[in-house]
Amino acid sequence: MLLKITLFCVFGVMKCVFLVVSSFGRPNKVVSLSQRKTQRPSGSPGLHIDYYAKFSPSPLSMKQFLDFGSTNACEKTSFAFLRQELPVRLSSSLKEINLLPDQLIMTQSVQLVHSWFVQSLLDILEFQDMSPDDPKVLAEFVDTLVSIRNRHNDVVPTMAQGVVEYRDAFGADPVTCQNIQYFLDRFYMNRISIRMLINQHTLIFDGSTHPGHPSSIGCIDSCCDVTNVIRDAYECAKMLCEQYYLGSPELELREINAKNKSQPIEISYVPSHLYHMVFELFKNAMRATIENHETSSTLPPIKVMVALGGEDLSVKICDRGGGVPFRKIDRLFSYMYSTAPRPTIGDHQRTPMAGFGYGLPISRLYARYFQGDLQLYPMEGYGTDAVIQLKALSTDSVEKLPVFNQTALRHYKFNQEADDWCVPSKEPLNLAAYKAAK
Ligand SMILES: Nc1ncnc2c1ncn2[C@@H]1O[C@H](COP(=O)(O)OP(=O)(O)OP(=O)(O)O)[C@@H](O)[C@H]1O
Ligand SMILES: [Mg+2]
Repeated sequence: MLLKITLFCVFGVMKCVFLVVSSFGRPNKVVSLSQRKTQRPSGSPGLHIDYYAKFSPSPLSMKQFLDFGSTNACEKTSFAFLRQELPVRLSSSLKEINLLPDQLIMTQSVQLVHSWFVQSLLDILEFQDMSPDDPKVLAEFVDTLVSIRNRHNDVVPTMAQGVVEYRDAFGADPVTCQNIQYFLDRFYMNRISIRMLINQHTLIFDGSTHPGHPSSIGCIDSCCDVTNVIRDAYECAKMLCEQYYLGSPELELREINAKNKSQPIEISYVPSHLYHMVFELFKNAMRATIENHETSSTLPPIKVMVALGGEDLSVKICDRGGGVPFRKIDRLFSYMYSTAPRPTIGDHQRTPMAGFGYGLPISRLYARYFQGDLQLYPMEGYGTDAVIQLKALSTDSVEKLPVFNQTALRHYKFNQEADDWCVPSKEPLNLAAYKAAK
């Protein structure tokens, strides 16, 4: 099952010689790469982080990724873009790590993740003054990107471990939980984007051709067959489900291609991202269905509907797993919530069916990364509809990236403000005090 291991992410358009700089509270201004070079500081990693974190990242569109890879793929331009862009994205994550609660930063796991980011930043800075015209430099750059990608392989479980350690030791009040959720959403989104850039560059310029995937440019498939990816993800979730529960619900799949009724549904997308999302949703739907039908002899099927319109590609996965109370919706997307027993981190014996509580929030990030979304509509007592919305047009699929600026800072610092909606009291109001005197 190749899709499952297909590398995430992509890289593209390097035509932009100008990069947008947001300078904290002041309007964005545009400076050229050459200007930036002369201003770059030398010295400790902290100075480099401060310098690069002041720049806004430059989001790329799927169309740009595709154009770049198919028509005028130029390794030198890609190199020149990445050696500027990766430090910006790495530095903004490093800045935000520093805004986490002190005890969380001090955990061994967060320290480790921090050190990986610093090392990767320093590795890329080595290339700032090297010539793109030297083939040896370009080859070395590809090797460096591969080693950065490997170094960061375990960022998600390591960060998760840090959060678990912190929560077990110090508990977590609602404000801290909100900050950690805000941080992790931005941190993991940035990570998805960094891997996309790295994977795309290394896949396109590693010197090998990739026969058998004529429509693939790096890890984007310009004719990604959505239904095929969904069927693959279902089969894999089904295998896992059968290992755990000795049974699994059937799949009923319907598709409507409103653009061209007789054709299969195809969009430009990263198949591994789509696979990740639907695989997680299938695991959840299967677990809920089985646990909600423990006493019955048959299992209701999981019904999937795929629709392609002029703007949107929508996938709806409906289960009859009993749903969840509406009150809990936000919690389902929390990195700190799962109703499954927590698996042991580092136990690679068997892939767990559920348990880390990362399935939904990370899948939603994948959907949002190219301006889509993922939502859950439960009907408690019956089942859940999970809906993925993606952009059907490659011009609309633009990277959604966090920016480290004053607004982000305010989120960490000032969200202790009082709510601007009344919080209903658990104690009934004593209306006696209002009784008009007779
Ligand atoms: N289709 C569903 N029906 C009922 N409950 C669901 C459904 N999908 C998710 N949930 C609830 O939301 C929780 C969070 O789901 P999520 O996928 O994020 O984590 P998980 O399944 O617990 O662990 P994992 O990280 O392994 O996916 C689940 O534990 C479950 O209680
Ligand atoms: Mg899950």
